[in-house]
Amino acid sequence: MSRVYVFDHPLIQHKLTFIRDKNTGTKEFRELVDEVATLMAYEITRDMPLEEVEIQTPVATCKSNVIAGKKVGLVPILRAGLGMVDGVLKLIPAAKVGHVGLYRDPETLQPVEYYVKLPSDVAERELIVIDPMLATGGSAVAAIEALKKRGAKNLKLMCLIAAPEGIKVIQDEHPDVDIFVAKVDEYLDDHGYIIPGLGDAGDRLYGTK
Ligand code: PRP
Ligand code: URA
Repeated sequence: MSRVYVFDHPLIQHKLTFIRDKNTGTKEFRELVDEVATLMAYEITRDMPLEEVEIQTPVATCKSNVIAGKKVGLVPILRAGLGMVDGVLKLIPAAKVGHVGLYRDPETLQPVEYYVKLPSDVAERELIVIDPMLATGGSAVAAIEALKKRGAKNLKLMCLIAAPEGIKVIQDEHPDVDIFVAKVDEYLDDHGYIIPGLGDAGDRLYGTK
């Protein structure tokens, strides 16, 4: 079953408070989401394997560690996932970036796919699917399905805020995918909004309504 990791680092929790606040404007919201994405990338890479190499310091030879192993791919779910990509790339600059375009139909709450573009070697990459909000889970399930259909095998899901309902859907549909969040919120309202949440992530990032 998917494991759920909640990043309780004080800096992440502090910044999330201002991200949630309705009085935080678009510019500051975007900056904070970017910063939290960097901090979450620091935590999500904790299990990256290391390998020892030998280097020469100015005064001696020394054995030291560098990151080994799999290549990383980031896959933001458009549009709101884009707001977290640059923050992650600050720590994993060599990652390739694929895109999955989905929007949630406001009536049915079902995800509608409109774009998929992935690195050609997606099957060999450790993929981090990125979306600030895991609400019903429909968008994340559809994105993960779109990736697996194209050969992806090794996936993680990274979100700012998750509803318990969305977590359960991922655990049921994609038990191989671990979930990394800054906070698990209380519940979904009748319109599929996370409560207390932060409102509509895409609108708040891009100033639309
Ligand atoms: C939001 C959010 C997720 C989705 C979550 O996107 O960024 O992708 O809703 O909801 P779900 O878990 O119930 O599927 P939205 O559909 O508003 O599209 P946008 O990012 O283009 O604004
Ligand atoms: N999508 C959002 O942007 N916010 C929510 O609360 C739920 C889905």
